[in-house]
Amino acid sequence: MARKPGSEGHEGWDEYAAFYDWENARTLGRRDVPFWRAVALASGGLVLELGCGTGRVALPLGRAGVRLVGIDRSDPMLARARRRLARARLDGQVGLVRGDIRALPFPASAFAMVMAPYGVLQSLLRERDLANTLAAVHRVLCRGGTFGVELVADLPSWDEYRRRVSLKGWRRVRGGAHVTLVETVRQDRVRRLTIFDQEFTERRGHQRRRRRFALTFRTLSVPQMVRRLEKAGFEITRLIGDYRGAPWDARAEAWIVLARRR
Ligand SMILES: C[S@@+](CC[C@H](N)C(=O)[O-])C[C@H]1O[C@@H](n2cnc3c(N)ncnc32)[C@H](O)[C@@H]1O
Repeated sequence: MARKPGSEGHEGWDEYAAFYDWENARTLGRRDVPFWRAVALASGGLVLELGCGTGRVALPLGRAGVRLVGIDRSDPMLARARRRLARARLDGQVGLVRGDIRALPFPASAFAMVMAPYGVLQSLLRERDLANTLAAVHRVLCRGGTFGVELVADLPSWDEYRRRVSLKGWRRVRGGAHVTLVETVRQDRVRRLTIFDQEFTERRGHQRRRRRFALTFRTLSVPQMVRRLEKAGFEITRLIGDYRGAPWDARAEAWIVLARRR
C-alpha cells in the first residue's frame, strides 16, 4: 500500500540537498566536529557514520586521518559528499555507500565505532525502524566498540509558527544567488513528531526558483534512547551535554549518548 507523503523520515532530503550546506553554515556550522573527531580517533579503527549526508562531518574526520565509511539513502546528498571528497583527495580515506540505515549492508563486527550525529536516528519515525537500526548497528560494530548518538535537544518545546522567514542570504553558486528560507514548524503531539515545512526561494537576476518540501523528526529523549540502547545490547558509558564533554542534564544544549557494544 502506498504511504502518505511525510510518513517516512527519509523524505525531503533529496530536495534539501542543494541548500543543506548553505543553511548549516548559518546554524550548527562545524561546532560538533571536534567532538566527533576525538571520539573517532580514540576508536583507532574503521568508523561508520549513519546518514553522512553531504560529508559535513565525514570530510574533516577524513582529513584528520580517520578511516570512515558514510552511508546515506539520499543520492543528491551523497553526490555532494562525493564531489567534496574528490576535491580534497580524500576519496581513498572516506568511502560512501548508498543504503538504508535500517538494514546496514556490511559484515558483522566490521567497525570499531559507529556514529549517528545531528539527530539522524530521529528520522526513523516508527519504533520498529529504530529497533531494526539499533540491531543492525549492534551487528556491524565489534565487541567493545563505541556507538555515539546525538539527539536534537528538546524538539517538543520548539515553538510552532507559520511561514516565518528564518534565513536569508547570498549563496555562492555560479553567478551567485540570493536565497530565502520560509519555514513552518508543526508539532504532532499525538504521534510525537515535529514537522518542518521548508520553502526555499532562490533568485538569480530575474529568475526565481522555488523548492518546497517537509522534513519530519521523531521526539526522543535521552532516557528513552538509553532504554532502547540497553535493550539492544549496549552499555551506556557517558551522557554528554555539550561539545566540550560536559555532563548531560535535561536542559543541556547538546544531547549525546556514548555506548559500548556488549
Ligand atoms: C541531519 S542529516 C545529517 C547529515 C550529516 N551526518 C551531518 O551531520 O551533517 C540526516 C541524513 O540522514 C539521511 N537519512 C535519513 N533517513 C535515512 C535512512 N533511513 N537511511 C539512510 N540515511 C537516512 C538523510 O538523507 C540525511 O542526509
